[in-house]
Amino acid sequence: MKILLIHGPNLNLLGTRETGVYGVQTLESVNQRCSALANELGVELEIHQSNSEGGIIDLIQAATNTVKGIVINPGAYTHYSYAIRDAIAAVRIPTVEVHLSNIHAREEFRHQSVIAPVAMGQIVGLGVNSYLLGLRAVVELAKDA
Ligand code: DQA
Repeated sequence: MKILLIHGPNLNLLGTRETGVYGVQTLESVNQRCSALANELGVELEIHQSNSEGGIIDLIQAATNTVKGIVINPGAYTHYSYAIRDAIAAVRIPTVEVHLSNIHAREEFRHQSVIAPVAMGQIVGLGVNSYLLGLRAVVELAKDA
């Protein structure tokens, strides 16, 4: 079973970016933790990071028929990308939205997610554990689908 993990814009800067909010873990180390868990769960994990909206949409569209579940941190696109939302709705692959920080406890513009209504669920505020729990959840959802 193949699961797709998508990191959105600026997440390539993890480790040096606003460390007070996002911590000092690099994207590479987040990916290693996720890959190790995928191994444990017996699923194949394909990981991508893109700084562009179109790049993320292309990844979601390409997942049709090959990917059983998506874990996505859409970064700031979370708050306004109707195009990414529509892509998720179109492919109908169980998707879990994850965030390192608690978006609901931050600036007002981060409180809204336009992705959440088309995701199966949202996990926020737990750092790398948001990703790990998101991965566990999507594997269960994919098994049930
Ligand atoms: C984020 C939260 C977003 O508001 C922000 O734009 C990000 C990271 C998170 O993981 O906490 O880029 O998605």
